[in-house]
Amino acid sequence: MSAPDAARAVGAELRSDGAAVQAPSAASPFAPFAPPQFLFGGDWSPEQWDRATWHEDIALMQRAKVNTVSLGIFSWSSLEPSEGVYETGWLEEVIDLLTEAGIGFFLATPTASPPPWFTRAHPEAMPVRPDGVRLTHGSRDTYAISAPAYRAASRAIARMLAERFGDHPGLRGWHLHNEYGTLDHGPEAARAFRTWLRARYGTLEELNRQWTTAFWSQGYGEWEEITPPRTTQYLHNPAQQIDFRRFSSDEMLAAMGEQRGEIRAAGSRAPVTTNFMLPSWNHLEQWSWADELDVVSIDHYLDTTGPDAETHIAYGGDLTRSWSGGPWVLMEQNASGIRIGDRTLAKSRRQTIRHSLGYLARGSQSSLFFQWRASAGGSEQWHSGLVPHAGGSTRRFETVCELGALLEQITPAVSLPADGPLIAAEVGILWHADGWWALETPHLPSDAISYSDEVRATHRSFWRAGIPTDFVRPGADASGYRLLVVPCLYPLSETQVAWLEDYVAGGGELVVTYLSGISDPSLRIVPGGYPGRLRDLLGVRVEEMLPLPAGEQVALDTGAVVEEWTELLEAVDAQPLALYSHDELRGRPAITRAARGKGHAVYLSARLRQDSRDAFLAETAARLGISATLTGAAERGLEAVRRRGDGADFLFLLHHGAEPVTVRGAGTDLVSGSSAARGLAVEPGGWAVIALAPDAPVEIVHG
Ligand code: GLA
Repeated sequence: MSAPDAARAVGAELRSDGAAVQAPSAASPFAPFAPPQFLFGGDWSPEQWDRATWHEDIALMQRAKVNTVSLGIFSWSSLEPSEGVYETGWLEEVIDLLTEAGIGFFLATPTASPPPWFTRAHPEAMPVRPDGVRLTHGSRDTYAISAPAYRAASRAIARMLAERFGDHPGLRGWHLHNEYGTLDHGPEAARAFRTWLRARYGTLEELNRQWTTAFWSQGYGEWEEITPPRTTQYLHNPAQQIDFRRFSSDEMLAAMGEQRGEIRAAGSRAPVTTNFMLPSWNHLEQWSWADELDVVSIDHYLDTTGPDAETHIAYGGDLTRSWSGGPWVLMEQNASGIRIGDRTLAKSRRQTIRHSLGYLARGSQSSLFFQWRASAGGSEQWHSGLVPHAGGSTRRFETVCELGALLEQITPAVSLPADGPLIAAEVGILWHADGWWALETPHLPSDAISYSDEVRATHRSFWRAGIPTDFVRPGADASGYRLLVVPCLYPLSETQVAWLEDYVAGGGELVVTYLSGISDPSLRIVPGGYPGRLRDLLGVRVEEMLPLPAGEQVALDTGAVVEEWTELLEAVDAQPLALYSHDELRGRPAITRAARGKGHAVYLSARLRQDSRDAFLAETAARLGISATLTGAAERGLEAVRRRGDGADFLFLLHHGAEPVTVRGAGTDLVSGSSAARGLAVEPGGWAVIALAPDAPVEIVHG
């Protein structure tokens, strides 16, 4: 099939030389990621199946209106059965089948799982655990990221794939590696870590000062004495720990950059992405990664069922949109199950559909899944697929077809606004991986406070109020946010503090919680009272941090309930908004507000129980005149997200409540085709996507 025909087959724009115009994106010299339709499909591993199954899969994909698969993610041993011997015939055949069927593909570099021959040839390129045990092949993600042999082999296979497929019209983008995240504590990492530390601190003297190595006689006399935080007798040095996390993120980023370099050198102009994760751990500093990607993508697996699953989706969507600076790619989600502890709980048909719409509403350009066909063998054979083990004649696959048809119906919503954000948010939540890593260091006043929980709890409050939120990068232009919340960002640099001061002076309302601005970037506590870095801005001085016994709750004079954390503080030139009312701190300020320039800085010294946090943040937003996307929707369990498009807005309505709700506005529901002018009813568990003129009013009339 000729390139122009193939291009036409997958609906791609054509360059003058007939090759497909690759959709460029924001962080890179490319334009935002704007495929002609929502991408629908998932990870497909034809190397696990015979040709008959390939053909069956293509037929099922066409039935389900799948338009995109991710290929080759774990195919290294199939593509390079022995060192330097490449076999791409099977992949060419697969890509031809897909192209004939009008299905595009993300092509992965298979570097997340080096083949067994690689381990034998390069045992030094296997990762080493903190306890010195070197891992070996037999699972996946077994690579020492700093090992020259691994990097060379990764560059070589990326180059080979780019030279072979780099300008294929069906190529939607590069899926580099899979979920970067293997930490290495071995000699290769140690060497690279020292180089990274030299660049960061310059001299050993400065490193010793920044790491407080005078504590427990840890002073380094030679760079070669420094190692990754390997297993040791007692507590690790927190500065060493956080620097190792930063180094590991940068080192993996460098490895990803090398692959991108090979792809560009081979002339491929397809957008480059790599799939982030958002589990209970964090290995990447996402902002610096986003700078190096043409579009940010994420794999998102829910860690809870029920109503909070919807909140988790919104959290993942808003975070990824913010990292990407606009449209993004949902690369993986679970088609039909939610793994909770030791079991996978089934999603309902409606959940599967509403969950996908939840991500699209928040800026995803795709609803991609892990995986297309449930594996027959291998360690994830029980992970669900769009095509379950029982095949295409199943209720699960019917739901997949329903979703495919629905995504086609709402295609207009994939368009991007000519200017301005995808989601108009007036609330920003500060996010930085340093917060996560700092709260993972040992022996804090309470180890029960986790960054992820704090950020999610803050986001949850705004979700429950139906108020759109973005996540904000320290130092970014935050002037568009009337309210900026800083949950537990423990280390802050002087530059970041100055940025927050400017935000407030310029008229912003800042809300800072406990355990923020406590230390410098090396986790050295700023003396003179907490939060050392922010005392002046907040107009407070905290003398003592007073964690509560697990499960104990105390109240504020406002009736708000506090759990886990309280503080003894003095309001220097800030006004108390709430006082503690339990014995230990009765009458002492718990929440304060200081006027600074044209704005205000609020300090939350207590960890409010979720419902009290909801009330406090909703009141703060209301006081600032920040309103919900659709007044009255959240109270009825109706999630309303207004995604801006090209010359239109698209109001996604996802009904998680129990009573029908009728919404009225001058628009048309792309799902049912019905007009909302005289009212459109959204059934419990149902959904609608109303196309409206930009900023056209919408209201709830019944329910
Ligand atoms: C991750 C991986 C996939 C698969 C799924 C299972 O996201 O990228 O290969 O393991 O998890 O949930």
